[in-house]
Amino acid sequence: MNLADLNKIAVAMVAPGRGILAADESSGTIKKRFDAIGVESSEDNRRDYREMMFRSKNAMTKHISGVILYDETFWQKAKDGTPLVKLIEQAGSIPGIKVDEGTQPLPGCPGELITVGLDKLSERLKKYYEGGARFAKWRAVIDIDRAKGIPSHTAIHTNAHALARYAALCQQAQIVPIVEPEVLMDGAHDIDTCYAVTEWVLKTTFQELYHQKVALEGMVLKPNMAISGKKSAKQASVEEVAEKTVRMLKNCVPPAVPGIAFLSGGQSDEEATAHLDAMNRIGDLPWKLTFSYGRALQAAPQKAWSGKTENVPAAQKAFDHRAYMNSLASKGEWKADLESKKAA
Ligand code: 13P
Repeated sequence: MNLADLNKIAVAMVAPGRGILAADESSGTIKKRFDAIGVESSEDNRRDYREMMFRSKNAMTKHISGVILYDETFWQKAKDGTPLVKLIEQAGSIPGIKVDEGTQPLPGCPGELITVGLDKLSERLKKYYEGGARFAKWRAVIDIDRAKGIPSHTAIHTNAHALARYAALCQQAQIVPIVEPEVLMDGAHDIDTCYAVTEWVLKTTFQELYHQKVALEGMVLKPNMAISGKKSAKQASVEEVAEKTVRMLKNCVPPAVPGIAFLSGGQSDEEATAHLDAMNRIGDLPWKLTFSYGRALQAAPQKAWSGKTENVPAAQKAFDHRAYMNSLASKGEWKADLESKKAA
């Protein structure tokens, strides 16, 4: 492992004004997204859609530091035969790869999940590195349902252990791990419950990373924000989300970590942007705070595209706009009235 080189990549992933595009939806998830816009989830349509984004000039050259890909996309070629990985590199962005293989029910813990994919991971990482991947992602999923005793100690520890095993294998393969322990925002819990559970998850995860000798300078953390559950009657304000998320992260994430790139987790586009902006306005933070959004970057371009070639320019404009808004938010320079200007 060359830590200086890993650190260089990690720092580039969270460079000022830049963030990550999570375009690594599994075949099942992208089908759900395409169903919503009435597009068949064929291999060609998935390729055309991703190619549209990766050729989106302003977003890719100015605001997107790296793109997380799904295995199928990683090996796909654009219509003109250029590998999609090359398109990303040519735009000055870094190709990344989702390497977890989804979730399975966790034995003994009804309603809880463990992320799988460690078997043969080192061989897979080697192939991805040769194919151009310089970072990877592994997502652990933690639900909140306090009445059912969820999350359990078992779910948090087994998932943290797997995340650290993955991260250590990545660094050994000279690939920067994005460590993503996602506490879901689907429940009816309030923001303080989310805070307490996420703090528990992050502290456990960093303990495991330490036990498994993961170099913090060569990783990026991808957490959820401290936020009210979607079904909660009490929705926290933008300021409260920003203040509590920053406090929580300061309590859990060592400053050796170069950057934190949030998932959007079901927040609306503008909420995800406003929250990131408010956190960066607090300032004086020991790490970079930026985005690694999937839905919050893609919902608008997906809708604008709707599977039609003639809509590609409008879809790219929508993607450029969201990437620009989040770039501003990563510097604490976003303003709500910029949203209506659709500048890029
Ligand atoms: P969302 O921003 O849609 O939550 O996706 C980010 C991601 O990569 C989840 O693993």
